[in-house]
Amino acid sequence: MSGDRLVVKLGGSVITDKDRPETLDGPALDAASDAIAGAIADDTVGDLVIVHGGGSFGHHHASEHGLSTATGTHDVGAVMDVHGAMTTLNRFVLDRLHERGVDAVPIHPLSLAARPEGVDGELALPIGSTGTLLSEGFVPVLHGDGIATAGEGVSVISGDELVVELAAALDADRVGVCSTVPGVLDDGEVVSLIEEFEEVADVLGASDATDVSGGMAAKVRELLALDAPAFVFGPNELSGFLRGEDPGTRIE
Ligand code: IPE
Repeated sequence: MSGDRLVVKLGGSVITDKDRPETLDGPALDAASDAIAGAIADDTVGDLVIVHGGGSFGHHHASEHGLSTATGTHDVGAVMDVHGAMTTLNRFVLDRLHERGVDAVPIHPLSLAARPEGVDGELALPIGSTGTLLSEGFVPVLHGDGIATAGEGVSVISGDELVVELAAALDADRVGVCSTVPGVLDDGEVVSLIEEFEEVADVLGASDATDVSGGMAAKVRELLALDAPAFVFGPNELSGFLRGEDPGTRIE
């Protein structure tokens, strides 16, 4: 039993079929929901915040409209396509959690967050609703989404960025990133511990200066900046992570 405060991301490619637009991976989402509900029922989790990615819901529409974390739009149709697909996916996630007795409540970043200084500026993410829901015993569920962005209209905020921001602002004890791979891989083997970006810069195939494409290198860099230890692991390890194990790659 632990009273840890956890922030967990369910990768979009874990819970959706990335190759087909707006297609859920039902069995994978069921398995993730079982793991979450089981850990809560067994009282191994203190507070839990869930963030999910976009997979074939968000990314499909974002790329169709040329939207990214760096490029926004003033076309309200494009905004609604991305946000609408993400709220649809969010609804699926909530339904599966509710079916299992998890008190999951949606928080939509488009209605909450902003980049008031543009794409390269600070993220403004008020956490009053998330923090209060947590202390009232709910499980807030956020997701990658559109985000109001000065000079760009609405751009994209990734689930990864939300995880990092929430973990820092809510003083999380542990952070989990459930991805399709079992951890950060070096020649097919899971790297068990990363303490400095330079240790893995080569295997991630990224220079330590910039990583515009996102992906694992950006993830590792951001997770290293957190006070809390973070773990990158595959879907089969979600239950273990929620029960206090240290699966996959530990980043701290
Ligand atoms: C993407 O979120 C959100 C949108 C495209 C709107 P993420 O970038 O976190 O999604 P995944 O986990 O990679 O699918």
